[in-house]
Amino acid sequence: MNINVNNLKKTIEGTELDTVKQLFPADTGELLVEEMYKFIELEHLYESAIREVKTKLEILDSEFRTKYAYNPIHHIEDRLKSPKSIFEKLRRKDKPFSVDSAKKNLYDIAGIRVICNYIEDIYTVADLLTAQDDVKLVERKDYIKSPKPNGYRSLHLVIQTPVYLSEAKEHVFVEVQIRTIAMDFWASLEHELKYKTDNEVSAELAARLKNCAETIAATDAEMQEIYRTLKEIS
Ligand code: GTP
Ligand code: MG
Repeated sequence: MNINVNNLKKTIEGTELDTVKQLFPADTGELLVEEMYKFIELEHLYESAIREVKTKLEILDSEFRTKYAYNPIHHIEDRLKSPKSIFEKLRRKDKPFSVDSAKKNLYDIAGIRVICNYIEDIYTVADLLTAQDDVKLVERKDYIKSPKPNGYRSLHLVIQTPVYLSEAKEHVFVEVQIRTIAMDFWASLEHELKYKTDNEVSAELAARLKNCAETIAATDAEMQEIYRTLKEIS
C-alpha cells in the first residue's frame, strides 16, 4: 500500500474538491484547498499506523507458530479510508472540515481486519494486542457476546498506537475488527447483499440472513469444541 503523492494531488484538485465544496459550502475556496493538501500527510500517517499494528499482529502470530506450532491468525486485511469517505463522514457526524477534526473525531481512518481460525483466538489476539504498553484501548465492542440485531458478529476494538515521524510522535487511532473465518464469510456476503443491491432487504430475507448467522455461530462453537477435544487427546 504505497501512496502516490502526485495521483493524490490530482484527485484532490479534481473530483474531491467538488465533493468538499458541496459538503461544506460555508468554507472558503483557498483555505479549503490548503486544508486538502494536509490530507496527503494524513494518509501517510494512517498508512504508517496500519503498518505498525499489522507488524504487532504478525509478530504475535509467528511467536505462536514458533512456540506452539499453531497460528491463531488466518489472515489480515487492511484498508485506508479514502479522502472522499473521510469528508462524507465528517459531514455526516456534523464535524468541521479539517485534518485536525478528522484525526480527533474519526476512529476508522485506519482499519485492520484480523481473521482468526477459532473463536478463542479472537480473544487471545485482542488481549495480547491491548496488553502491549504502547497500545491504548479506546473502545471495545463485543458483537460476539452481544450480536447485532441482524446477526452480525465480530469483536471491534479502537486502539491508539504511536507513530514516530521525523519531528513528532503521533498517537493514531486504528479500528481493529477481529472475527473468525465463518463470521467473515457471513459479514462479507451480508455486506454485499445490503450495499450492492438496490432493493431493500425484505423482513423475510433479513430473518433468513439472521438464521444463517446463527447456524454459522453454532458451527463455530462446534469447531472450537472439536479442536479443544483433539488438543486434549494429543
Ligand atoms: P461508525 O460511526 O460508522 O464507526 O459507527 P459505529 O461505531 O456504530 O460502527 P461499528 O463499530 O458498530 O461498525 C463499524 C464497522 O463494522 C462497519 O464499517 C462495518 O465494517 C462493520 N459492521 C458493523 N455492522 C455490520 C453489519 O451489520 N454487517 C456487516 N457486514 N458489517 C458490519
Ligand atoms: Mg466505529
